[in-house]
Amino acid sequence: MDTSDASPTPYDQVLYPAAVYPEAHPDRLATVGTLRGMHPAPLNGCRVLELGCGTGENLIALAFSFGKSEFVGLDSARSPVALGKASIEELRLTNIQLHPVDLCEASKERFGSFDYIIAHGLYSWVSPLTRERILALCHELMTPHGIAYVSYNAYPGNHLRDLARGIIRFHTMRCGSPPEKAQRARAILKFLAESRIVPNAYVTALRVEFERVVKQQDEVFLHDDLGKINQPFYFHEFISAAHRHNLQFLGEAGPDDLHAENFTSDTIAKLSELEKEEELICEQYKDFLIGRAFRRTLICRSEVPLVPASVPARASTLYASCDAEPVHRSETGDTMRIVSASERSRAGNESRVTRGFIPTCLFGVAVSGCF
Ligand SMILES: C[S@@+](CC[C@H](N)C(=O)[O-])C[C@H]1O[C@@H](n2cnc3c(N)ncnc32)[C@H](O)[C@@H]1O
Repeated sequence: MDTSDASPTPYDQVLYPAAVYPEAHPDRLATVGTLRGMHPAPLNGCRVLELGCGTGENLIALAFSFGKSEFVGLDSARSPVALGKASIEELRLTNIQLHPVDLCEASKERFGSFDYIIAHGLYSWVSPLTRERILALCHELMTPHGIAYVSYNAYPGNHLRDLARGIIRFHTMRCGSPPEKAQRARAILKFLAESRIVPNAYVTALRVEFERVVKQQDEVFLHDDLGKINQPFYFHEFISAAHRHNLQFLGEAGPDDLHAENFTSDTIAKLSELEKEEELICEQYKDFLIGRAFRRTLICRSEVPLVPASVPARASTLYASCDAEPVHRSETGDTMRIVSASERSRAGNESRVTRGFIPTCLFGVAVSGCF
């Protein structure tokens, strides 16, 4: 059943800005899977499903690049899907379909199985029942070596956002139009953020939040912060939910922002100890350390045997692309000076890369490179 007879959803009333998300590109998913010993489907010959695809911009870009793959997008809001369909028609793409369908109605019989499943900006913003269905679908619709990407707001970073959310939701509950709501929400945060001569911890937190939301587009602010549901999760809570659906943690689609230069030597020493712990425990403590507020977690079927991510052992099976250019190679070939083309035009920064280090660098590159 599609949603053509259903009443408009908040995403029909205020259109969510279309975007492409590089972190959810199947080449990243496939790269992480390969490094952990999986055999992911080739990018130009796979099936990709996006849940909550909105206008389908992300899928359209993929469909354009990979003509031999098939792309299916589902979204319960009719207006964005109609806009996406018009773009697909204009571009004459025949390998992509968008359906105005509630994901709770999706099934294998109707849509088949998929090598890659993307659910970006969805999990934290739907009801508990729909959340369970997202994970159930990841298991049901995924091929044996399939990989799913599920992003969500994370604790502990989101406690700050929760603080502001309680205030702005209360302050705007009687607002009429969406623009008025966004304006009033920012106004109360600004008022509170500037309320004390010497800011205490509470006011400092509100200032941080005000600075964040003041940069946001109204449409994003209205849905992400002022919407009815915005439920963050600790990493361990998300993983427990995934386990209930016979899914396991594969990795993160993006870097963890744990830059050693930002931490004390004692912290770095503790981190090395932590690396020896069980992977899931280690991941959770890293979130505590960096105050992570958003995760892009990759999951696969529980029965898939995974090995620890080994870049040196498997990097040779991957292709990488980036804008770095070699500018000097040592005589032994062990070290190389590289420069990022975009950086060079800005500041002329060069980095030295030793051969043993290249695969480690590649990991950062490969996740955005071509598989
Ligand atoms: C925050 S937007 C994210 C859109 C896009 N994925 C992005 O990140 O730019 C959430 C999308 O999920 C859709 N959505 C919410 N609940 C849904 C459901 N039960 N079934 C299908 N789509 C749903 C909304 O209509 C909306 O387009």
